[in-house]
Amino acid sequence: MKTSDKFDRSQEDVGNSVHMEHVNLRVPDQQIATLFYVTGLGLTREPFLMSGLENMWINIGRHQFHLGPHGVPQVLRGHIGLVIPDRLALLQRLELVRERLSATYFDVQKHDDHIEVICPWGNRFRCYEPDGQRFGRILLGIPYVEFQAPIGTTDGIVRFYQQALKLQAQKQTDDKGSLARVKIGLGQHLIFRETNQDQPSFDGHHVQIYLNDFSGPHRWLLDRNLITEESDRYQYRFNDIIDPDTGRVLFVVEHEVRSMTHPLFARPLVNRNPIQTNRAYAPGHDEGQWGMPWNA
Ligand SMILES: [Fe+2]
Repeated sequence: MKTSDKFDRSQEDVGNSVHMEHVNLRVPDQQIATLFYVTGLGLTREPFLMSGLENMWINIGRHQFHLGPHGVPQVLRGHIGLVIPDRLALLQRLELVRERLSATYFDVQKHDDHIEVICPWGNRFRCYEPDGQRFGRILLGIPYVEFQAPIGTTDGIVRFYQQALKLQAQKQTDDKGSLARVKIGLGQHLIFRETNQDQPSFDGHHVQIYLNDFSGPHRWLLDRNLITEESDRYQYRFNDIIDPDTGRVLFVVEHEVRSMTHPLFARPLVNRNPIQTNRAYAPGHDEGQWGMPWNA
């Protein structure tokens, strides 16, 4: 078989999932959510869709958080990776909201290459600066979601994503143990890291992905009674990640699966520049100032 000696063309293969757009977490208080996501993290309330009190969409680059109101808050078992430029400005914004969030789980811990932030309801985020390397050219966004999976599940999780969803998935080992790394978009991954910590049961949060081959995975899941919702012509959902060899359930998290023909696919999202204030206003810099040096 001929190969190019100039480029490894497989580096540019995306796999069957072309984009993870949103992570959905229920939060019971929009004012506190605004303090955390908009004022603290510096992200943007989606202005066009779901702009009322029923649901709150928060834009982060080409990605989103969907924050459903009412009821018990949902807490993801693991953490969510974020890329947010300007570590110092982020730390200053988080400091500004600290007092008003003092009665919540909110916390900030500085590490060498990231800032760990706990949301008012206990969700954990790791905020990295864009460097053009670790998460590709994501300047602002959600590059990964890392779940804490039980010991001994990595091989089966890799098989599930390869066989059921036709995704690129591989087992990796590092100093903390085994993990499954699943490619779900440009610079985006789902990570399942084995841990022996006791995990709370699944509480209903979800991740949303767009598949190129939409019907093939649906057939595979339907054959095994794994489809939990036939939402509409462009979308279905499932919860259970099973070992294809044994049928054993390895991990549970809701996947909202959309086709690339979904009307919202690749919708442009507005992102403000949080450094812009009314007092230091500079015309033309309301958005688009997020960035990194291109020689990074
Ligand atoms: Fe969703």
